[in-house]
Amino acid sequence: MVIINTIADTRESILWAKQQGKKVVLIPTMGFLHDGHLSMVKAARRQDNGDKEILVVMSIFVNPLQFGPNEDYEKYPRDLTRDASLAEEAGVDLLFAPSVKEMYPAGGSLTAVQVSRITEVLCGASRPGHFEGVATVVTKLFNIVQPHEAYFGQKDYQQVAVIRQMVKDLNMPITIRSFPTVRESDGLALSSRNAYLSSEERQQAPILYRALQEASARITGGEISPDRIKAAIKQRISEESNGKIDYVEIYRADDLSEVEQITVSIVIALAVHFGTTRLIDNIIVEV
Ligand code: PAF
Repeated sequence: MVIINTIADTRESILWAKQQGKKVVLIPTMGFLHDGHLSMVKAARRQDNGDKEILVVMSIFVNPLQFGPNEDYEKYPRDLTRDASLAEEAGVDLLFAPSVKEMYPAGGSLTAVQVSRITEVLCGASRPGHFEGVATVVTKLFNIVQPHEAYFGQKDYQQVAVIRQMVKDLNMPITIRSFPTVRESDGLALSSRNAYLSSEERQQAPILYRALQEASARITGGEISPDRIKAAIKQRISEESNGKIDYVEIYRADDLSEVEQITVSIVIALAVHFGTTRLIDNIIVEV
């Protein structure tokens, strides 16, 4: 695996790989890697059975543009040495780890990519500007790496929806694939932010997925009221933890539009604060 910090060198390596006939897969991350990230690397590597017909590129960049002024940009966990060895072991060929100066030489970007409507709900409503920052940096990464495919985790359901929409609307010639959330044995979704949890918060956090699973079972059992489902999830989380609910919402799974009755496939998405840590999770219920 090579570690490259500059855009120019990354472009050169990728051009060379493409000239050798390789397919390029990009896995964008903010680092502090966990098995969710590594499962995507392994999925990319499995495509060529280890034959190296695919160039697996991972980016590690904590993007300041997607953090609000009072969010955790400064304290977001960073450990490039640890990440590099995990990435290499999992099968990454090229690790692109630029500095903020390399990505934003003028200190920011005068140009932004804005996806409307689907960014106005869920995390988009709670974190103004977040998805503009995500869409802008992902566009930059796509322009730098020019991958054939890009992989994202389903835990950030809305993020995947925003990126798919952006790629479709802007005719970017990239296939977006999303991968199932990887969980701890007690159901907690893996996230780099889990590192912030105190031991008491860590013990309570699995209630999120339990509440989502119970809701899914109720829907499968015939419940069609989004309001009753949301109320049940909120009650369960409040009764069993000190988590402060940011949102619990239900939207159509395909386009994040409103549902009055659960008669189509839906996503139940939630965000809950445990102390200063904001966790998100979701479940798809196929109807
Ligand atoms: O999901 C993330 O880690 C980030 O939002 C991403 C896609 C790497 C953009 O900074």
